[in-house]
Amino acid sequence: MSRIELKSLRKEFGSTVAVKSLDLQIEDGEFLVLVGPSGCGKTTTLRMLAGFEDPSDGEITMNGSIVNDLEPRDRDIGMVFQSHALFPHKYIYDNIEFGLRMKNVPEAERRKAVEDVAEMVHITPLLNKRPAQCSGGESQRVALARTLVTHPSTFLLDEPLSSLDAKLRRELRAEVDRLHTELKKTFIYVTHDQEEAMTLADRIVVMNEGEIEQEGSPMEIYSNPKSYFVADFFGSPSMNLLDGEVISKEGKAVFQHGQMEISVPDTYANLGSGKVTLGIRPEHVVVSTADGQIPETIDLVEPMGKDTLLYFEAEGERPFVVIVEGLILDDYKSGQQVQLTFPDDKVYFFDEAGQRIR
Ligand SMILES: Nc1ncnc2c1ncn2[C@@H]1O[C@H](COP(=O)(O)OP(=O)(O)O)[C@@H](O)[C@H]1O
Ligand SMILES: [Mg+2]
Repeated sequence: MSRIELKSLRKEFGSTVAVKSLDLQIEDGEFLVLVGPSGCGKTTTLRMLAGFEDPSDGEITMNGSIVNDLEPRDRDIGMVFQSHALFPHKYIYDNIEFGLRMKNVPEAERRKAVEDVAEMVHITPLLNKRPAQCSGGESQRVALARTLVTHPSTFLLDEPLSSLDAKLRRELRAEVDRLHTELKKTFIYVTHDQEEAMTLADRIVVMNEGEIEQEGSPMEIYSNPKSYFVADFFGSPSMNLLDGEVISKEGKAVFQHGQMEISVPDTYANLGSGKVTLGIRPEHVVVSTADGQIPETIDLVEPMGKDTLLYFEAEGERPFVVIVEGLILDDYKSGQQVQLTFPDDKVYFFDEAGQRIR
């Protein structure tokens, strides 16, 4: 059992405020992902949880008791880091066994525990090798094994897959997911990778500049972002974001972005006269060769296998992207004019401060 609570948790390093005032509850057995850009305070939060960093203010409670002053080894947590930090001269077996020796577990019990955990993460053939003989993916499996073997009730993982290539990362991501399902322990997982967050999390906590920007299920975060920051962070390719204004034209509300004009529901007319940003995800734009709201010329067609990306020139720094299902090279060509439609219920609006208004 482990329920963790962070109350007004804060960490300053000199004049840098790494974590401002974090309030967060983590349920027993939950897979919580802390996600956000580099420098937003993820590692600092995790290190305070582990006991490697003293909070400047606030409380950490585990199962109702304040643990601020507990040593890391007394907190019933296991931590997996981004770089594997294995003992280079010890065999993999000894690397995994190390934590158990520290806890004075008897020899026979240690052997069984190491062998079991090696089997669990598929590294039995590596036990009599040394770290230099392991690939990056194998080393991360060893790092997982070394933490698993001590049976903590909470696992803290700090970007454990970020040093691996894309294919290995997906493979090990599935492994982490399976371990969580099997062990039913609490996992607190830090990443800057939105895709990792979306696929692994029960709940996502999006951090920005030392604060929680939004928390919710992956679906909530994706379909109901409360700010420009969150909308832009999740999704690949990213949400299309067009700066402009909502004006009234012949009694109708129209969103105007450069030459582009899109009629929007009349209720949008009261968004005010200031600048707004319209957001629409690439998969929600409807493309047609017949009719639609906005005539545009395809700049580039990029087949992705199961989908095709259509790029359009936009006034911002990023091209406007549309995802169309299937390989549709015969239907659309670069230079071709098509009609785009933004379905009303798929359009987001953000105000100048980046807050979601519709
Ligand atoms: N030991 C430290 N000394 C000084 N500043 C630090 C230290 N650790 C982190 N910081 C600063 O705190 C902020 C948050 O860092 P960190 O928690 O590592 O972010 P993240 O893991 O999200 O990339 C950054 O501005 C970073 O430079
Ligand atoms: Mg970090």
